[in-house]
Amino acid sequence: MAAQTSEPAVHPESTHPGPIMGLMAGYWQVKILLAAVEHDVFTALSGRSATSAELAADLGLVPRGANDLLVGLRHLGLLESADGGFANSAVADAFLVRGRPAYLGGYLRFCDQELNPAWDGLATALRTGQPQNHAAVEGNPYDTLYRDADATDGFLDSMDLLTTPIGLAMSRFDWSRYKSFVDVGGARGNFAHQVVSANPHLTGAVFDLPPLEPAFTRHMAGLGGVAPSITFHGGDFFTDRLPEADVLVFGHVLHNWGVEDRVRLLKNAYDSLRPGGAVFVYDPMAGGEQPSMHGVLAGLAMLVWSRGGHEYSVQELHGWLAQAGFRPETAEVADLHDDVLVVGHKDR
Ligand SMILES: C[S@@+](CC[C@H](N)C(=O)[O-])C[C@H]1O[C@@H](n2cnc3c(N)ncnc32)[C@H](O)[C@@H]1O
Repeated sequence: MAAQTSEPAVHPESTHPGPIMGLMAGYWQVKILLAAVEHDVFTALSGRSATSAELAADLGLVPRGANDLLVGLRHLGLLESADGGFANSAVADAFLVRGRPAYLGGYLRFCDQELNPAWDGLATALRTGQPQNHAAVEGNPYDTLYRDADATDGFLDSMDLLTTPIGLAMSRFDWSRYKSFVDVGGARGNFAHQVVSANPHLTGAVFDLPPLEPAFTRHMAGLGGVAPSITFHGGDFFTDRLPEADVLVFGHVLHNWGVEDRVRLLKNAYDSLRPGGAVFVYDPMAGGEQPSMHGVLAGLAMLVWSRGGHEYSVQELHGWLAQAGFRPETAEVADLHDDVLVVGHKDR
């Protein structure tokens, strides 16, 4: 018997579209933030207040739009009223003024220019399984990213932003049984620098694609301290042998690639490690049937941006580690936030 269709009952409260309209408005609010960062509104307001007419003149914005932009930023808590005009709120002053140590503009630009265009193709990616980032269709998306100096800086800023709390947590990990480590896919060395600074008995190195070497050298010089003892090894982790060390770290690397590539990387790591050594893998590991919202967003970001990447579960990783020859162990690390650390021991 055919299912009966009936008119939906009208319950004004339960059918109010507010939650859905709110989601759509959230997208436009993000656009307000990104436009303000692009026009450097917060840097222009650093240490002063200004009216919308003054700011529009300074930044070359049309007055009608400028006022809505500034009032909108005030509604979002990024600006405050001051002296009949606008001033940065505390959070905007800390994170959105260019040149400040915690500046997030590079990360936001990376999201806007690199990730969000791929997200625009989510519906297509769900149908085809194809990345919506042309660079990933043609090869390794990082090769294309690193041809654009601005995009590279934005990406590296965002990697540092992610690795700073992880590096802090991993600095407190018990490294006493190890003497050396290589951060594979370690970008410009932020994580390696933190771990060696807190554990000076360790020799640290970064293995990453050759175009990152100048950024690594600049970043290390800026950080100072233990920087000279950390070395950079340029290469391709799919085709080159990894440098020998007691520990090989894969942080936010495996989820970028499909299952076959993950196992290939872990086998490559196993071959390079000395007996008694270990591979350290950290990732959200938010895969499985009921991922958190963070896991959902990370998983879909991989679907649209990478070829074959996806979030995975701790159990899946244990299986791939065992396949590569390791004895897997999930480690307890405090303050790792959205990530999990799994250690693969090479016992013999
Ligand atoms: C998502 S980032 C991870 C950065 C950092 N480890 C972290 O914890 O956030 C992935 C890194 O892998 C590097 N990478 C990608 N493909 C590579 C390859 N074939 N060989 C070596 N490094 C590669 C990228 O350059 C990038 O630095």
